[in-house]
Parts: sequence; structure tokens; C-alpha cells
Amino acid sequence: MTQDLSAVPWPIRTARLTLRPATPDDVDATWAFRQDPAVWEWLTHRVEDREEYAGVFLAEDRLASTLVIELDGEVVGDLMIRIEDPWAQAEVVEEAKRTQAELGWVVAPPYAGRGVGTEAVEAVLEICFAHLGLRRVTALCFADNTASWRLMERVGMRREAYNVRDSLHRDRGWLDGMGYALLAEEWRARR
Ligand SMILES: CC(C)(COP(=O)(O)OP(=O)(O)OC[C@H]1O[C@@H](n2cnc3c(N)ncnc32)[C@H](O)[C@@H]1OP(=O)(O)O)[C@@H](O)C(=O)NCCC(=O)NCCS
Repeated sequence: MTQDLSAVPWPIRTARLTLRPATPDDVDATWAFRQDPAVWEWLTHRVEDREEYAGVFLAEDRLASTLVIELDGEVVGDLMIRIEDPWAQAEVVEEAKRTQAELGWVVAPPYAGRGVGTEAVEAVLEICFAHLGLRRVTALCFADNTASWRLMERVGMRREAYNVRDSLHRDRGWLDGMGYALLAEEWRARR
């Protein structure tokens, strides 16, 4: 199945949260927490300037793969579902296309530690497997980003890789990185 996020019946609601695709109007709501050093410490981009951040957020591919998390009508985090093509041999490359997604997550610090990340990522897994029909999801993190890999393990993702000093951090130098994944059948077996 090859899908994109428009195949999902938005918004997706959980016990406390609403998940919906990000729009250009979400720049400031996400900038409010994305500019926090505690948030960008482990993220790809350090964004200290609002205009630079807007450029990153509004890039076509980025916006198309970003969801926002709302709690009581307020944007309290964002999520990434980047649908991608896994590696495949040449003869079966079409069969593999758009069958997996890389995931990412941010929760605004004032809302952290309340189960928002867990509840949102559990909904993301349902979106990926039940609505999009993907066969595998993946996520990467620095090994020192304990909050992130604990979240992955809490939602049932499996550690597949522990890479020694493979990832360059802007301040900390070469650090260990980890790769997690979950297959559709593993997700179904947990339900
Ligand atoms: C990683 C991140 C998204 C986690 O979000 P979060 O909303 O704090 O996650 P949760 O609240 O679901 O879980 C955090 C802790 O709160 C606990 N918790 C869960 N539900 C809870 C609840 N209802 N009340 C209180 N605590 C709760 C969890 O058990 C967890 O504890 P543990 O890590 O000791 O096991 C957040 O720390 C973050 O945005 N980090 C910065 C950005 C980042 O690093 N992104 C990932 C890059 S790879």
C-alpha cells in the first residue's frame, strides 16, 4: 500500500489529545517550545532565530510530514511521520516503496512527564499501521537522549542498533546513536 498523510481521517483524537497535520499557521505555536535549548539539545536543528525556524518548518517536505499535538486547544508538541522507501533489490523496488516511516517527537517542556508523548506516539503508531498500512516504523536518537529512547521502549519499539560514536553532536562531539523499529505485526500482537 502506498499512502500519504491525506489518507488519514483527521483529526485523530485520543483520551486527552488531538493530532492533526501542521499548517503554516503553526509556526509560532511550535516556535514557542522549539526555541527552548532543552528541546533542541538533541534535535537536528538548533533554531535560535524565529525567521530561520520558519524557513525550516515551512519547507515543503518538512511541513508535509509534521503533525501537531493539541491539548485543550493548545499546541503542546509536534510529531514527524516521514514516509520513506526501505532499501530493496532492483527487481522489487516498486513493491517496497513508501512502506515504512521514520518517526520523531517533541513535547513542550511544561507538558513533559505527563504521558503526553506516550499518548501521542501510541496514536502515531495507530495512524501508521491502521490508517496508512505501513509495514515498519523506525526512529533514531542519541543514546544519551534517555527520555526519547525510554518513550520508544514504552510504546513497544525494539532497539535494533547501538552504534558507537557514529553521530556528531554540535556541542558534545561524537556520541553513540541508537536505532529503534517496530513492525506492523509486532504492533498488532501488542494490542
Ligand atoms: C522525548 C519526549 C518527547 C518525551 O515526552 P513526554 O511527554 O515527557 O513523555 P511522557 O510524559 O509520555 O513520558 C515521560 C515520563 O513521564 C512518565 N509518565 C507517563 N505518563 C505519565 C502521567 N500521566 N503522569 C506523570 N508521568 C507520566 C513516563 O512513565 C515517563 O517516565 P520514564 O521516562 O521515567 O519512564 C520529550 O522529552 C521531548 O520533547 N524531548 C525533547 C525533544 C527530543 O529529544 N525529541 C526526540 C529526538 S530523538
